[in-house]
Amino acid sequence: GTYEVVVVGSCMTDLVSQAPRLPKAGETIHGHGFFIGFGGKGANQCVQAARLGTKTAMVCKVGKDFFGDNYIQNFKNNGISTEFVRQTEQAATGAATIIVNDEGENAIVIVAGANLLLGEEELQWVEPALGGAKVLVCQLEIEPDVTLLALRMARDRGGESAPVAQQSPPAVFPLPNVDVSALSALHMGSLAMYKSHRVTHITSQSVSCVFIQSVSSEVTHGIAQSYGAGDSFIGALAFYTAQYPTMPLEEMARRANQVAAISVQAAGTQASYPSRGGLPPHLF
Ligand code: RIB
Ligand code: NA
Repeated sequence: GTYEVVVVGSCMTDLVSQAPRLPKAGETIHGHGFFIGFGGKGANQCVQAARLGTKTAMVCKVGKDFFGDNYIQNFKNNGISTEFVRQTEQAATGAATIIVNDEGENAIVIVAGANLLLGEEELQWVEPALGGAKVLVCQLEIEPDVTLLALRMARDRGGESAPVAQQSPPAVFPLPNVDVSALSALHMGSLAMYKSHRVTHITSQSVSCVFIQSVSSEVTHGIAQSYGAGDSFIGALAFYTAQYPTMPLEEMARRANQVAAISVQAAGTQASYPSRGGLPPHLF
């Protein structure tokens, strides 16, 4: 099929413990909450784009295990195509152990597992879909070479690509039409877009500034549950890029901010992401 937004990236099961503070080395402390959520930067971004009403496909690898089966069902529940989701017996579904303290700060250990087995042969099947897509979104929770290959395929299919990647050494993405200045550390996920020249004007600083403003002005009570908010922002930005190609980038970022600001008002990543129906009409 054809998809407006294609995400080539990660899927993790988030195992979240809420505790008064983060434990020190060698220490055991009591927490007061635990839940399991669907996470991973790639899947989070895809789910947010899908919930805003764009046709999406996820390209990823999960384990042939309970968490992997559940994750595939989660994609279906969100209306995301699983045409390019593969299961492997060689590794477990990726997992993120997350501890959140009462200030909303977090510490995260990621075991990427099956995500690291997403390889070049899977991407060959995806190539036609990359050509038809308006936006390709990547992160750095899969092998960097595979991310690079996806970007290259998208570019060779006639698109422009401009990755803005989290903690990415610029050398990882030696694509000629990429704005390397945009590759410095960005604290809120990552994206790669093509067929959108304007995206090359994003700098990590301007984007994270806009985002921080919206968190402080829109959270009026409670603690900001900030992890995963960057993925909501990126997913929303992908949605606006796909569906409103003439909208100024600043306006897309402003609206994506408002979407992400809602996600910090509840715990979890995807569990807190808004759908189109729950958002004010002026965002569309
Ligand atoms: O960006 C938030 C995500 O980072 C979490 O869902 C966790 O899985 C980690 O990948
Ligand atoms: Na949240």
